[in-house]
Amino acid sequence: MKILVTGGTGFIGSHTCVELINAGHEVVILDNLYNSKIDVLDKIKAITGIKPKFYQVDIKDYNELEKVFGENNFEAVIHFAGYKAVGESVSIPLDYYDNNVGGSINLYRLMKKYSVDNLVFSSSATVYGDNFEVPFKEEYGYGNTTNPYGTTKLVNEMIINDNCKANEKASAVILRYFNPIGAHESGLLGEIPNGIPNNLLPYVAQVETGIREYLRVFGDDYDTPDGTGVRDYIHVVDLAKAHVLAIEYAQKHKGAQTINVGTGNGYSVLDVLHAYEKACGRKLEYKIMERRPGDIATSYADVSKAERLLGFKAKYDIDKMCEDSYRFYQNNK
Ligand code: WQD
Repeated sequence: MKILVTGGTGFIGSHTCVELINAGHEVVILDNLYNSKIDVLDKIKAITGIKPKFYQVDIKDYNELEKVFGENNFEAVIHFAGYKAVGESVSIPLDYYDNNVGGSINLYRLMKKYSVDNLVFSSSATVYGDNFEVPFKEEYGYGNTTNPYGTTKLVNEMIINDNCKANEKASAVILRYFNPIGAHESGLLGEIPNGIPNNLLPYVAQVETGIREYLRVFGDDYDTPDGTGVRDYIHVVDLAKAHVLAIEYAQKHKGAQTINVGTGNGYSVLDVLHAYEKACGRKLEYKIMERRPGDIATSYADVSKAERLLGFKAKYDIDKMCEDSYRFYQNNK
């Protein structure tokens, strides 16, 4: 299929483009380069031999976005483009709603106008909030999201579900990511954070490279095996492969499906730190700090629906995730 990948030069988007090309699909990337670099296109070419067509367009710009649809006969869209910093979303919520919801509505309108019926949407486990028992199941629906970023994901899910009910040709798979980490084994693609990393793995990596003095562990008094937060970390290449299966599923089915993408296993902050120490071969400094507002103790996925509907099962473990991350950060100091 000819697939538009919005946010395709980003961390998850670029890994997904590699797997789509490997699976024989034609990929067109659209990105405003707010949180990614254009040299990612050359890295995708180095890995796959193909440099995808690229448009530097912002999804908030309806007219520019329409030109992209007019010039291409897309069969599907995988929609990653969006602001994603939890903390930042609390301080500039209007920008988050304008971009992540307003921009997405532009995209969904143009998909309908140009009869592009198949969509995969990048959602997040954050929509479960903190009022459900783990493992989180898709049928739980929505929890009390604790930040505007999470709420924009939840609103997009509602829009997509309502649009699929109103438009019988529309087909969508909403993927709820747990915690994507790791990097392509080539060491060419990975997560390059802007400023101080919000997420655990990029921060640990900066402790290893010496940019940060120590890891701040946000709380060790949670009701978890070692007291630190537990999350379902999934290798970004596994996550990318789930997108290929999801867009192919969308092509064959109508309506909307919501599917968790995780490993079904939970790892604590200290588990991840020790796995990274194993990958880099040395101890890394950390200090126990106060809990981070909005954090929940434990999050991991029920992965049975992904297996049943998509035939998807994550392959890589935490050691492989850290080995591949370490290689990427060594290559991109
Ligand atoms: C993981 C664990 C922290 C940093 C968020 C979003 C989610 C997704 C991924 C956005 C927690 C602890 C972290 C640090 C720490 N999308 N931690 N010190 O909060 O589970 O999920 O990011 O990209 O939608 O909600 O991920 O990596 O921030 O935190 O102790 O410096 O690591 O308390 O237990 P989170 P995270």
